[in-house]
Amino acid sequence: KVVAVIMAGGKGERFWPRSRRTLPKQFLSLTEDGKTMIQHTVERIKSLVSIQDVFIVTNKDYESLVKEQLSGLPAENILLEPAARNTAPCVGLAAAYIRKKYEDAVMLVLPSDHLIKFNGIFINTLKDAIQVAEEDTNMVTIGITPNYPETGYGYINFGDEKAGANNVYQVERFVEKPNLQRAKEYLESGKYLWNSGMFVWKTSTILAQFEKYLPEMYQGLLKIEEAIGSSQEVEVLEKEFSDFKSESIDYGIMEKASNIYTLPGSFGWDDVGSWLALERFNRTNEDGNVVSGNVISINTKNAIVQGSDKLIATIGVENLIIVDTEDAMLICAKDSTQDVKKVIENLKICN
Ligand code: GDD
Ligand code: MG
Repeated sequence: KVVAVIMAGGKGERFWPRSRRTLPKQFLSLTEDGKTMIQHTVERIKSLVSIQDVFIVTNKDYESLVKEQLSGLPAENILLEPAARNTAPCVGLAAAYIRKKYEDAVMLVLPSDHLIKFNGIFINTLKDAIQVAEEDTNMVTIGITPNYPETGYGYINFGDEKAGANNVYQVERFVEKPNLQRAKEYLESGKYLWNSGMFVWKTSTILAQFEKYLPEMYQGLLKIEEAIGSSQEVEVLEKEFSDFKSESIDYGIMEKASNIYTLPGSFGWDDVGSWLALERFNRTNEDGNVVSGNVISINTKNAIVQGSDKLIATIGVENLIIVDTEDAMLICAKDSTQDVKKVIENLKICN
């Protein structure tokens, strides 16, 4: 049995003003086909996992967005978190529900806010990963060959190739979000891959890791699992989940565990980290602009202009990002996209 667990409770603040607390990145459409990130995520794996076996883990605030955007999904496959506690509780909760339903299954744990260019290669990589995960208590990560010292990713130090397998490597060390100095060393060494944030393991394997490395959380998960299907389910989930400490799966388990393997994937992975990503998967016009909405650009080069019905006119500007929404507008230099987060910080202070 293979099931998919899609982590969809993140905030995605760098896509302000399109992304809001009530509408994070995974629910936005950033591609020309009009599909949202989470719709792409589900569609991408449909040849591997039927919609009956897709589980969406998200915050309770996003329940209606999930239902709207994924119409074929069984309602009981939406697992709602009563509080934001990062990705370790998210994965643990899914594992508890899946164990209750199937006893054991291979889980494809996938972020909901990435884009992938070559789906055929991606599916083949997942198939190989499933094989490795089915053996023993192997945990599998999908690695990406790095090309710059990004500090917002996890790094996977890979060792020898796994005996009898092709393109599967033992993981020596997993380092979540190193500082710039370290990231540069890792990049130069040629012995590290980026962690794509996609994991494959059996329910039994990951729950054993929770028991070992996050024992308190595991006790809470047991209580939740026991209550599933009973009249106490919602109440127990509310209490136990809210008591979990915030922890990412990367710091909480991956940095500590052994038995990890990595499969280098080359399927055109894009983490869609900022507005600049739009240039990578949308058409640019002859002046290098990525434009959507009602836009007139005169003598405008290499700009990203995202509007809607309201007319936006740009004249004599270059390398600008302009994003207009009903109640907020962003005008940002292309080299400052990471600072969009600072706007959010300011907004929080003002509120
Ligand atoms: N259900 C749920 N609950 N999902 C969450 C939560 C939560 O509290 N927090 C984050 N997520 C979802 C996000 O929506 C996203 O799909 C995924 O989990 C990963 O979370 P991010 O917050 O985007 O993680 P990150 O980008 O900082 O780091 C992770 O991804 C990198 C690659 O993009 C790590 O796994 C890194 O090691 C990795 O390199
Ligand atoms: Mg991310």
